[in-house]
Amino acid sequence: LMGVQISPSILSADFSRLAEECDRVAGAADWLHVDVMDNHFVPNLTLGLPIVESLLKRVSTPVDCHLMIADPDRWAPGYAEAGAGSVTFHVEAAHAPIRLARAIRAAGARAGMALKPATDVEGYADLLPEIDMLLIMTVEPGFGGQAFLDVVLPKIRRARELIAGRALDLWLQVDGGVSAGTIERCAEAGADVFVAGSAVYGADDPAEAVRRLRAQAEA
Ligand code: DX5
Ligand code: ZN
Repeated sequence: LMGVQISPSILSADFSRLAEECDRVAGAADWLHVDVMDNHFVPNLTLGLPIVESLLKRVSTPVDCHLMIADPDRWAPGYAEAGAGSVTFHVEAAHAPIRLARAIRAAGARAGMALKPATDVEGYADLLPEIDMLLIMTVEPGFGGQAFLDVVLPKIRRARELIAGRALDLWLQVDGGVSAGTIERCAEAGADVFVAGSAVYGADDPAEAVRRLRAQAEA
């Protein structure tokens, strides 16, 4: 078991100097969270495989790709083949989530499955052995800087029960509105991987912000 991990989202970084922004959390962060959006699954457009490939050549922190895209069955394995350490698809967008999770693992990455705030976890309990990480969104996906949705906390708790009940070595990630004011609630509910965008890149010292979040989550 890994314990607490922090995955800063570069969505809140300066996209004109992405590699330098990644360097600002090097050594402090466990992962770099890269939000891929396609203007279709979510109403926002960010970056895709060519930029992820370039980043992977330049940064040493493992890359955690969060794909907010339609038809992840077609695109997700390519991010794993490019060298992302973790590739997460949205179950609402996947046509064949079990086949897709297996394809991501076969391409050498950890397979993640994400649930939007209104997507119930119960119906996916039997899929949990097929994945390495469950991402529970704590905002509607699409934008950084949104307010944390407390209404999702019972689902985090329930997901942790399902994982514990099956004795799975599965990470439970939260993403959206995670900050000094909310991370303790997430940790208490059972999350162990914390994505933070504005709370990290909005700080004067992003590495220090990562260390503080980790200390709070571990408390
Ligand atoms: C939102 C993205 C998040 C986003 C979080 O759809 O998936 O990763 O960057 O940003 P904050 O931490 O500012 O809510
Ligand atoms: Zn994300």
